[in-house]
Amino acid sequence: MTVIVEAVDLRKVYMLGKVPVEALRGVNLKVEEGEFLSVLGPSGSGKSTLLNLIGALDKPTDGKIFFEGVDVSTLNDGQLADLRRRIGFVFQFFNLIPRFTARQNVELPMAIAGLGKEARRKRAEELLKIVGLTDRMGHKPTELSGGEQQRVAIARALANNPRFLLMDEPTGNIDSKNAYEIIQLIKGLNQDLGVTIIMVTHDQRLAAEGKRTVHMLDGLIVDEKVNWA
Ligand SMILES: Nc1ncnc2c1ncn2[C@@H]1O[C@H](COP(=O)(O)OP(=O)(O)OP(=O)(O)O)[C@@H](O)[C@H]1O
Ligand SMILES: [Mg+2]
Repeated sequence: MTVIVEAVDLRKVYMLGKVPVEALRGVNLKVEEGEFLSVLGPSGSGKSTLLNLIGALDKPTDGKIFFEGVDVSTLNDGQLADLRRRIGFVFQFFNLIPRFTARQNVELPMAIAGLGKEARRKRAEELLKIVGLTDRMGHKPTELSGGEQQRVAIARALANNPRFLLMDEPTGNIDSKNAYEIIQLIKGLNQDLGVTIIMVTHDQRLAAEGKRTVHMLDGLIVDEKVNWA
């Protein structure tokens, strides 16, 4: 099996004024191509911090991350940007552009990738249909419910057909019926298209949908289990 991402003794200390906050205290993790990994843990355990480091959105205080065998700390800004473009992100707090409609938000990564106007409009409409927002495409984020915003964020993450998806509480603001649909969609991406997925959640039942769960507590992975083969 090919290892996509490996974290080695990963540490992250945030400075809150003069007070150091140890968010990660030595995390070791290997994620193989085609995996669907759930990261489970209570609030404050370091889940988002870990995801941000894996996605090269932030730098570790200590330790290393290897992406497809390459030490991420050796990459220059251009190479880091290339790496990030290959990853689909669903952020915990969506990070949608307020001035843009749902469709424009989904089109944005495709525009950055240089896709033509017609092609990206078509693709955005397809993706918004998949997440059940056909009749909300012209709405801006403030004109959408939390769950709808989250679904826009998921559609946006899929825009450039990423082979690797990082999702931070992708169903955190979605009611249970829609959450079930979203999780089926995520599973389908993994099983049918072979997309590698890391999904952060504090919901044990949701975590069990992943092939494997790692359990975080106080900045460490304290447990690991296989849910299904
Ligand atoms: N920018 C920051 N500055 C200082 N401390 C931070 C910062 N970001 C996170 N922390 C602290 O680091 C720890 C881990 O935060 P993180 O956001 O990774 O937790 P989490 O597991 O994602 O929690 P949640 O489930 O609430 O999203 C927390 O104690 C948090 O207070
Ligand atoms: Mg978080």
